[in-house]
Amino acid sequence: MNYDIADPSLASEGRRRIAWADRRMPVLAAIRERFEVERPLEGVKVAACMHVTTETAVLMKTLRAGGASVALSASNPLSTQDDVTAALVDDGISVFAVRGEDSETFYRHINAILDTDPDIVFDDGADTTTVLHRERTTQPILGGLEETTTGVLRLRSMAKNGVLRYPVVAVNDSATKHLFDNRHGTGQSSLDGILRASNILFAGRTVVVAGFGDCGWGVARRAAGLGSNVVVIEVDPIRALSAAMEGYRVMTAAEAAPIGDVFLTVTGDIHIFRPEHFAVMKDSVILANAGHFDVELDLAGLDEMAVARREIRDNLEEYELADGRRIIVVAQGRLVNLGAAEGHPADVMDMSFADQALAAEWLVENGENLVPDVYVLPHELDEEVARLKLEAMGAGLETLTPEQVRYLDSWEEGT
Ligand code: NAD
Ligand code: ADE
Repeated sequence: MNYDIADPSLASEGRRRIAWADRRMPVLAAIRERFEVERPLEGVKVAACMHVTTETAVLMKTLRAGGASVALSASNPLSTQDDVTAALVDDGISVFAVRGEDSETFYRHINAILDTDPDIVFDDGADTTTVLHRERTTQPILGGLEETTTGVLRLRSMAKNGVLRYPVVAVNDSATKHLFDNRHGTGQSSLDGILRASNILFAGRTVVVAGFGDCGWGVARRAAGLGSNVVVIEVDPIRALSAAMEGYRVMTAAEAAPIGDVFLTVTGDIHIFRPEHFAVMKDSVILANAGHFDVELDLAGLDEMAVARREIRDNLEEYELADGRRIIVVAQGRLVNLGAAEGHPADVMDMSFADQALAAEWLVENGENLVPDVYVLPHELDEEVARLKLEAMGAGLETLTPEQVRYLDSWEEGT
């Protein structure tokens, strides 16, 4: 059953915003043009559990141009843009998603896309994969694609334990995905989410970033660019050292808790900030999370400490503690960039979703011959995406001269 979003103005707003995203996704457009001619996904059934955004809409249209039929559900209850759902449904694409859906509805929708008997599942966080391994254990699947770090971590653990039952491409691990989407996308859009919800000034504030992986790298850099004093919390000594040499202060969560003004988690881990930290935070600090699951802030612990809780602005909830201090949480501790803003800009999703489209094509070509495991796309496909993006940006790419090729290949020359 499709959600029949009958409001024509909603669909028309969705179409307008999708068109704007489409204009800023030239790499995906080039792939779509080729797909229209070559039809590499002819007859392939796709079930996609992804954030229902304008950029995802452009990906769905690209898959359809390649010959696939598509059913889409949300990969987070708060990331769905209802106008996009309306526009896609209007365009004949099955979408099962409503912003703010409860957990039962979320899983009902995942089951609805799996009821279409897909050949390929697109996942963002491995929720569909989990359902296919816990409940729908005999449903045949040609293969899967995974968009995010947390999902890939789960899949690698399943492969290691010998329980993964079909091949999956770790799209996140393509360089043209994680070096740009995780870094520049999360960096910009997470601050965008905090800004839209709170309209605070970042200049002069102490921003505590937990996790200095690709996402943390981007968030820290953008916060510093806005004039914040950035503090990084890390458990990995090499990443912590790297943060220190970028010029950030590196400290423990306990040391950062009393000095931070804004706390942003991007670890993929659980309970980074807990009651012992809330107990020493300043009045009116802002907490937000951009890691995949809403587990990075211990909100149940915060709720237990609170004497009152109220929504003070859209996507901004205040927990009042017994001593009068207030702790403010953005977008319920869910992905702040998608819950309180529109997610990454189309310009960067262009590459992530070009990788997804090419991965789907690669899986259709190779899936039958792959054993269940986690695969990374061939480096040539990464390079193809990078070249197309550079071309679209009007950036020149130098080429090696024959002399330079010889020099770089030789171990005798060079003294
Ligand atoms: P990553 O593995 O590169 O980085 C995570 C970092 O967190 C690592 O350096 C790790 O050492 C650190 N860490 C783990 N536990 C910690 C703890 N207890 N305290 C401090 N540091 C800790 O991962 P990434 O690619 O940066 O992704 C981070 C999270 O963001 C994942 O959940 C990923 O799925 C998600 N993500 C979200 C978006 C988005 O749109 N919001 C986009 C991409 C990725
Ligand atoms: N993940 C982060 N930003 C996104 C976007 N704009 N669309 C889909 N998935 C995303």
